[in-house]
This record gives sequence, C-alpha cells and structure tokens, in this order.
Amino acid sequence: MNTLHLTTSAEDIRQAAEIIRKGGLVAFPTETVYGLGADAMNTKAVAAVYEAKGRPSDNPMIVHIAAAEEMRRLTPEISEDAAAVMDRFWPGPLTIVVKKKPEVPDRTTGGLDTVAVRMPETPAARDLIRFSGCPIAAPSANLSGSPSPTRAKDVTADLEGRIDAVIEGGDCRVGIESTVLDLTGDAPVILRPGIITADEISEALGKPVLYDSSLKEAASHTALDPAKGAQEADFRPKSPGMKYKHYAPKAEMLIISGDADRVREEIGRRKRECEAQGKRAGVILFGEQEFRQAAHDLFSRLRDLDGEGVDLILAGALSEADGVGFAVMNRMLKSAGYHIIRV
Ligand code: TXA
Ligand code: MG
Repeated sequence: MNTLHLTTSAEDIRQAAEIIRKGGLVAFPTETVYGLGADAMNTKAVAAVYEAKGRPSDNPMIVHIAAAEEMRRLTPEISEDAAAVMDRFWPGPLTIVVKKKPEVPDRTTGGLDTVAVRMPETPAARDLIRFSGCPIAAPSANLSGSPSPTRAKDVTADLEGRIDAVIEGGDCRVGIESTVLDLTGDAPVILRPGIITADEISEALGKPVLYDSSLKEAASHTALDPAKGAQEADFRPKSPGMKYKHYAPKAEMLIISGDADRVREEIGRRKRECEAQGKRAGVILFGEQEFRQAAHDLFSRLRDLDGEGVDLILAGALSEADGVGFAVMNRMLKSAGYHIIRV
C-alpha cells in the first residue's frame, strides 16, 4: 500500500476525510499523540486499524468527536458528571468512558458495553472528523507495543506502507495520551492518568475521583519490589489497554529512583559500566518538577535513543505521587517493563 503524505490544508484534510468515508485508515495529529483513524461505525475499517497496528483485537479504541452533540450517536444518556467534564475539559486531553449504544460496533469497543469518547483540540483533527461526517475511532498511530508517536516522522517510521494516509501536523503539544475517566460506576475512576489530573477533575465534579487500583498498585509494587512489579498481568487492569507490553523502546531500559544527586551518580556509574563493556547507554533525566516538559519529551526521547542505536536507556524517576508526574511515570514504568531500582 502506498501511504499518502498530506498537510493540514483544508484541501488535504478533505482528501483524508474522503479516505475515512470509504473505510480507509488515516493517521492524524492530536494535542496528545498522533492517532490512527477509521470510521468508528464501520466494523471493517476498525478491524483494519487493529491489523495495521498489529494490536490484539480485544483492546478497545477511543472514539473521537468534533462536537458535543455527536455524543448522542454513541451513548443513550449523558449523566450530570459527563456533562460537567465535557463542558470543562473539551476539547482537550480527557477521554470519558460511558455506556454505549448498540449501534457502536463491538469491534470498536473490544466487545465491551461501554465506549470511550474524546473531543480532541487540534484543529486538523476536528476538521477531519467534521469533514468525514462520522465519529473516528483512533488508537495511537504506532505499531502495538512501541512508544506512542508525537511527531509525524514517528508515525511514518512505524506505519509507512501499512496505512492509506498520514496528515503531517507539527509536534504534539502534550506528548502523552489523554486521561481516561470511567463514568459508568458509582464513583468516577481514572483508568489511565494523563495531564488532566484527578484533582482538576475532582474540582470540576465537586466530588472525589479515584484511581483504578491497578495504577497505584503498579507504581507502588515496583517501588517496593521490582521483581514483583515485573508481573504486569497480575494487576488485572480494568482498562484493557493497560495489560499489554507498552511504549517499549528497542533498547533495554532501567529507571533509577531516589534522591536527585544519588540518581545522577548511579546513572553515571551504570553508564560508565555499560561503556566499559563496549556498549552504548543513553540517559533520560528530566528537570525536577518539570512534569509537563517530561510528558512532552518522553516518547520522542525513547524513539531518538533507539534511532541512535543505544543498548541501554537509563532514566531518572519522577517524584510526583499524583498529577502529571504520576502520569509520566506510568508510561516510563511500562516502557522499562517495570524495571526500576531505588538508590
Ligand atoms: O490521547 C489519546 O487518547 C490518543 C489519541 C489518538 O486520542 N489515543 C489513544 O488510544 O491513546 P489508545 O487506543 O492507544 O488507548 C486507548 C485507551 C486504552 O488504555 C484502552 O484500554 C482504553 O483507552 N479504553 C478504550 N475504550 C475503553 C472502554 N470502553 N473501557 C475502558 N477503557 C477503554
Ligand atoms: Mg496506544
């Protein structure tokens, strides 16, 4: 398949929309990461997305819309909580999980009776949805398991020749995927942390917001006992996407956690040790408290280090227990296969 490279001009986005309408696959920029889009209501098109990504087919997709009214096609009722967060955070990097209408194909939702929906903020993404005239199902536009794509060249590196077109926008503003908030239970629950934090959502709803237990478990188990943390399947995550090997660079990756100076020392020591064996090590160390920058840079750094052909990636842990630092650490831990040591 010849992959068409398109710009964000209205003419090009119309061409991309035509491809979506015909059941094709188009990668497009959003504020979080690039998505690989297909008509969410077209079972065959959605199946092709799984195929192109090499993704297990029980993993449900996020359905992207361009206007709040489009929720009505997807869900039978919009709860008060749903209305409140839609009003406060859309368009933006928040996905909500709600009950699905029967019309939404099982293929799109991985057989669940719920559907995850978000309204992206990037104009090219919203134009694509509007011009297509359908909600667009879109997982991140990477091969399953590899770091999410935050630049057009990352999409091309993974999917050139496997998809119909890519809309080449600039770098993604946020750099990690949207916060996924489950609104189908008694209390709102964060299934995947992102830059919209529990505190912000809690403030908008006027009630506490919980984290899915697997998230905190994953973070704490690994901190206490790295060997245990490696058994990712034991967490039985509620968000099905959390259970697969994710975001992994080709190089081996190790996270060092602890006091900033000691982390720096340990990374230096391990780097020299690696180089003494004739291998190459790459380092990822974000500024303290610079969580947004870390979110923006993480996936592109992983891809760049792989591009440089390093054998080992040594990363300094982020410290925040909640909020944006927690969201970035969630990705880092997965990238490293929960391989973390304390100093
Ligand atoms: O920022 C994002 O969310 C990006 C851009 C492209 O919008 N998309 C993205 O999609 O990250 P994906 O497929 O890589 O991740 C979707 C996440 C997975 O963790 C999946 O398990 C969860 O959302 N999810 C989707 N539908 C769900 C549902 N009905 N119930 C629970 N979790 C769901
Ligand atoms: Mg993904």
